[in-house]
Amino acid sequence: MPNAIIYVFSGTYHTLKTAEMLKNHLEEGHISVTIHEVCEPISHIPAPAEGDIVGFGYPVHAFNAPQLFLRFVSSLPPAQHNRAFIFKTSGEPFHINDASSYKLYRMLLKKGYDVVQELHMLMPYNILRRYPDGLVKQMVLYSDAQSRMLAMRLLNGERARLHYTLRHRLVSLIFRIEWFGAWFNGMFYRVDTSKCTRCLKCVHSCPALNISFDGSRFHFARSCTMCMRCAMYCPADAMHIGLLQPFKVNGGYAFSRILADPEIPVDYVNPKTKGYFRLFRKFFVRADAELAAYGITIPGHTPQPAAEPPEFEVFEAYQQEQAVGEQEQAGSAAANLAE
Ligand SMILES: Cc1cc2nc3c(=O)[nH]c(=O)nc-3n(C[C@H](O)[C@H](O)[C@H](O)COP(=O)(O)O)c2cc1C
Repeated sequence: MPNAIIYVFSGTYHTLKTAEMLKNHLEEGHISVTIHEVCEPISHIPAPAEGDIVGFGYPVHAFNAPQLFLRFVSSLPPAQHNRAFIFKTSGEPFHINDASSYKLYRMLLKKGYDVVQELHMLMPYNILRRYPDGLVKQMVLYSDAQSRMLAMRLLNGERARLHYTLRHRLVSLIFRIEWFGAWFNGMFYRVDTSKCTRCLKCVHSCPALNISFDGSRFHFARSCTMCMRCAMYCPADAMHIGLLQPFKVNGGYAFSRILADPEIPVDYVNPKTKGYFRLFRKFFVRADAELAAYGITIPGHTPQPAAEPPEFEVFEAYQQEQAVGEQEQAGSAAANLAE
């Protein structure tokens, strides 16, 4: 069995949590897994060995992969017979988040990776608003089940990629302005010294090495990735995050407590859900259909019948791409013969 290596960028540790779930499920299948958190200095992160299965995980930021993560991927040497998979988390279930992988996918292909799987999971928002405990429970339980499905697909040697429409890719491209936004907004970061206890958690945990303290003042370089780690985990809520201050979520989600609390129902989003969260239903119904195909169930959850047939566009898109790839290969084989 090959080994697996997972590279994960995770601002507030939500994607890291899904990477750990995945590691558990792969290890159940007797694959040994090493997780590397992507953070500065990226040059210290080891490259995969020949034949390793390589996972790339990130949180969706403005319909894109975080810039630091892509910088790391671009620093990797060419693949050596490596299969790869992509997984990502986002706070909202919409398809447009899928297009966030397009650039990463192209980069991996160029490096010679055989990208065999891609998975989109939901984890709670770390900016804009705090999600209710019920939705957090539902998201985490689904992510665990989906990561199990991903492990099974990898173990079975299956292929399933997401489909990025041209429209979504275009929106994703436009929103790449967030990379500039992170740099610009970073100029307005400051620490509220009346609240700060000088624990220096922000300094020591910033994945971009953007924050320093000289003994009397905090300094912010220009490498913020807007990952929200400093904002969410500051115990004194002393981090001022510039123009995003009104959207700050301070205090991590209590995942263990939420999962263990039997009073919190599993199906927060259900057929009776009204308002914005009603829009999440399609994601969960679709996931139910995919999970059922692998015999995976979620404890305490009754799968909801789909209002419409689930779209297995993943396979269709992959098949189309395979067909094109095979034609190209046939073309180049013919050209080689002609030479
Ligand atoms: C700057 C920023 C931009 C984000 N953009 C999106 C987005 O475009 N779509 C979405 O669904 N979630 C978005 N999110 C939410 C995160 O993807 C989500 O909370 C994720 O689980 C965070 O994972 P992490 O803790 O590993 O960083 C954004 C979060 C941040 C901080």
